[in-house]
Amino acid sequence: MLSVLDLTKRFTLHTQGGKVIEAPSAFSFSLHEGMFLGLAGPSGSGKSTVLKCIYRTYLPTKGALHYHSLLFGPVDLAQLDEHRMLDLRRTEIAYVSQFLRVIPRVPAIEIVASALKYRSSASDREALRKAAELLERLGIPPRLFDTYPSTFSGGEQQRVNIARSVIWKPRLLLLDEPTASLDSTAAATVVDILRELRDAGSTMIGIFHDRATMAQLADQVHEFPQQRSVHAYRD
Ligand SMILES: Nc1ncnc2c1ncn2[C@@H]1O[C@H](COP(=O)(O)OP(=O)(O)O)[C@@H](O)[C@H]1O
Ligand SMILES: [Mg+2]
Repeated sequence: MLSVLDLTKRFTLHTQGGKVIEAPSAFSFSLHEGMFLGLAGPSGSGKSTVLKCIYRTYLPTKGALHYHSLLFGPVDLAQLDEHRMLDLRRTEIAYVSQFLRVIPRVPAIEIVASALKYRSSASDREALRKAAELLERLGIPPRLFDTYPSTFSGGEQQRVNIARSVIWKPRLLLLDEPTASLDSTAAATVVDILRELRDAGSTMIGIFHDRATMAQLADQVHEFPQQRSVHAYRD
């Protein structure tokens, strides 16, 4: 379903005298439908950057990202035009970042319900019902449903973030430390929900801060080496 070949991203660190680093550096993997790939390795090794290149938040410096899309057939996510990329984000690829970024003054339940409405023929009522069910399962108290997530704790925001991505059952789900600010009960619920999603056919790539959570989910784990600097420019 996804085949990443020699993915390299270079960053120039202007604050560090123009030092150039590569993270990831010539990273390759392939992913079959229904598989859960875990990414592990030291901080700064390029794990988040891999997810951002697949979701096209970043453009890779080198490499190819061959993806068999439902919408367009085989495409290279590194080359795909912006409109088609947005279509894929709307219909099949989802990304759960570490932090919730939302439009201000939209209530939590609306954020989750609209993620579903945007992508399905669900009625307003049906979408709100499903959103409420999911938020409640994730331990968000119903009194918070109609309030704005900007006032929520980090863990509550993270659960809203997860809810809005899993509610529409994406075909490919990219997870960047989705349980990092959750207590063990909430984290266990997230693991259950992700398992159900995988059993229903979703393919996932996940970064997890703790190995135990990753072991519960991942079929395979890729270990990243420490980042290396490629040049050190001097004046
Ligand atoms: N937009 C950016 N500009 C400059 N450096 C970046 C940027 N994004 C990531 N980096 C650097 O690239 C390296 C890899 O980052 P990241 O993929 O976030 O690592 P990880 O998720 O493994 O901790 C880090 O050294 C980070 O500082
Ligand atoms: Mg990261």
